[in-house]
Amino acid sequence: MTPILQLEEVRYTYPGNAEPALRGANLSLWGGKKIAVLGRNGSGKSTLFLHCNGILRPDGGQLYLAGKPVKYDRGSLLGLRRHVGIVFQNPDDQLFSASVVQDMSFGPLNLGLSQVEASRRVEEAAEQCEIVDLLDRPTHALSGGQKARVALAGVLAMEPSVILVDEVMASLDPWMRDQILSILHDFAARGRTVVLATHDLALARTWADLVAVMEGGRVLAVDTPDVIFSSEAMLAHLGPRSAWFYPPLRSASEAALAPQGDRATKPVAPAVPAPVDGPLCEPLTVPTERNPHSNGSGNVHADLGKMTQR
Ligand SMILES: Nc1ncnc2c1ncn2[C@@H]1O[C@H](COP(=O)(O)OP(=O)(O)O)[C@@H](O)[C@H]1O
Ligand SMILES: [Mg+2]
Repeated sequence: MTPILQLEEVRYTYPGNAEPALRGANLSLWGGKKIAVLGRNGSGKSTLFLHCNGILRPDGGQLYLAGKPVKYDRGSLLGLRRHVGIVFQNPDDQLFSASVVQDMSFGPLNLGLSQVEASRRVEEAAEQCEIVDLLDRPTHALSGGQKARVALAGVLAMEPSVILVDEVMASLDPWMRDQILSILHDFAARGRTVVLATHDLALARTWADLVAVMEGGRVLAVDTPDVIFSSEAMLAHLGPRSAWFYPPLRSASEAALAPQGDRATKPVAPAVPAPVDGPLCEPLTVPTERNPHSNGSGNVHADLGKMTQR
């Protein structure tokens, strides 16, 4: 089966920069999956996303949409943007029309849809993202969280096959964050693809079907959260363990409530997962019981395809 979108050895250097932002990035996206992209600041997540819908054009390498090479003429770019929507890291880069309703209608109308169909999609997406009461508001008069929801609603109104969400969760309150995650979950449940760049390692562990780890402009590995988060080699790229491992709340509150003497004799030991020997990349390329989807191709990215056909 052909991936919806495939990035092959994509390289890119921003004008004026000495160092490349992408140094041969590979990623294949298949339908029905929620993929978290992790990596330190500057590892290339946003640059990778901007390539996925043709805002940036690679200096080298190739993008494929449904197996066909993306050419950067108008028709090819329109096709790419019809299928791949992006919610920018900074919503101010996304919202440019005077009012929310105008902003949300822009994408669907630009796809050539009728006014009636564009309005239907805008209403539906606005209800999903709970921004109906904001539709007539000027875009500049919104809070950060409202802007993020409007930006997402605008992309949903385009009904893309792939939606890329670049680190917007931090601007949302916990209720809205859960709601947006649930919208994205439903989106993937309808056979579409969600790619979420995040620093929230706990979220990546629990919400994502697959985790991609980026460093230095490359995608180091793509695999299930279980595999990624039990690999010492990958964890070294992800950040301090405290960021994703926290003692279960019940144990913590029990410890706080326990009598002093009891606590002195029975310290609550954090249940740190047993480290896995060796680098992660090996299990990714060799079919194993833990990773039966690997095709053993030697290319860690090639495995994503089989995994997403389940
Ligand atoms: N607009 C830009 N102009 C010049 N360099 C940029 C620009 N955006 C990103 N970069 C550089 O590209 C590299 C990758 O950045 P980015 O893709 O934003 O990483 P991430 O999203 O993982 O933080 C960094 O070295 C960054 O400084
Ligand atoms: Mg970024």
